[in-house]
Amino acid sequence: MSTPAFQTSPGMRDILPPESARWRRFQSTFASVVEAAGYGEIMPPLMEDLGVFQRIGDATDVVSKEMYDFVDKGGRHVALRPEQTASVCRAFAQHRPLTPWKVYYAGPNFRYEKPQRGRYRQFDQVGVEVLGADDPYLDVEVIALGWEFFRALGLRQVRLLLNSLGEPEDRARYVQALREHFEANLDGLSEVSRTTLAKNPLRVLDSKRREDAELIAAAPRIASFYSIDAAGHFEAVQQGLTDLGIPFEIDNTLVRGLDYYRRTTFEYQGGTLDSAQNALGGGGRYDGLVESLGGPPTPGIGFALGLDRTLLACDDEGVFEAPDVSVDVYVVDTAGGRQALQISAELREAGFATDRAFENRSMKSQMKGADRSGALVAVIVGSNEIDAGTVVVRPLRGEDLQRTVPRDDLVAEVTKVMIESLKEETA
Ligand code: HAM
Repeated sequence: MSTPAFQTSPGMRDILPPESARWRRFQSTFASVVEAAGYGEIMPPLMEDLGVFQRIGDATDVVSKEMYDFVDKGGRHVALRPEQTASVCRAFAQHRPLTPWKVYYAGPNFRYEKPQRGRYRQFDQVGVEVLGADDPYLDVEVIALGWEFFRALGLRQVRLLLNSLGEPEDRARYVQALREHFEANLDGLSEVSRTTLAKNPLRVLDSKRREDAELIAAAPRIASFYSIDAAGHFEAVQQGLTDLGIPFEIDNTLVRGLDYYRRTTFEYQGGTLDSAQNALGGGGRYDGLVESLGGPPTPGIGFALGLDRTLLACDDEGVFEAPDVSVDVYVVDTAGGRQALQISAELREAGFATDRAFENRSMKSQMKGADRSGALVAVIVGSNEIDAGTVVVRPLRGEDLQRTVPRDDLVAEVTKVMIESLKEETA
């Protein structure tokens, strides 16, 4: 086979059936978990003014290196969204809905990253955001929803890491202390971390480089910088999670990749994945982001989960497999195909997923198609049946024999055979 002239760009993929059905089910499972808690879906556009995403923070790679931005035909500098939190905050500032505003989303994002397993340039996330409430028990609700979703997928080895970055002033004092700590020991830092230090000392804590480990371990801890309010909030979050029986680990080095976080931050890690892509998702509070987008001062919290990495974790744990996309009935027509057209329409109308053969293939070839389709029942018509005003209904599994029935009894007979076959399947 010669290579076609065009293939998907690096880091971009076609999601084909049956995997696409698994993606859809992933999204609908998420929707049912969060809708049960009063969240409504928001569908922001894929593209926004660049400035919306710049509010995520210039010091992050997402903004400074990975954005798909360009000037459109109207001279507007726009970008494909690298995430959806900034879009949700922009939407809040634009529409001013009643608070607390509880929304969820599902869809693709774009980051110009180096593609590898679990890391793509177009990748899907599902997530929630709540704007306009500052209650620590809301943090607990949000964190618990992510946790519940992993349970709904069947995942059992997810770890929840929790931290608080304190109030903005606590965070600022902490960043200063970190800067001093690392600057006093520059020789002990990797080259990459020295560059990170100049931009954002917090992100040095994210380094997984062995040469940085000792200095990071000796770095000051955010916990010593909390104000009374921040400490109380964090205490209540931990207590709420404990009340719900959700296990968590405090990790004071958890700063996450985006600059907008204040107070609570958290990450869900897959127990079976390598550390390079074990973050299934995460989030935190971002009080101040709506304001920076021109809205009123508004507290906010949310998370986003990566679909790819979560599905990798599902594969590793052998759960949430691709659903069966088979049909119920397959129609075989050896008399030209017009009967199959009508029979298929009738069966679909009656609620049976129905497929059929085309191009007037041989009986043998059409029966192969029936086999591949996974159907439980085949409906067969040839010129004899057309003349006699009948159809043949043939169960494709189990012991039951085929029968020839009047054409008018088609739906009733297929229903009977389907019920029998399903009974046998579940016995
Ligand atoms: P994030 O940590 O940048 O947070 O992304 C969340 C998750 O999206 C990651 O843990 C990962 O599973 C997935 N992800 C990120 N980049 C890629 C990629 N290139 N390929 C595949 N998966 C990827 C956010 O996006 C924040 N908006 C989360 C949030 C919501 N915080 C508050 N609200």
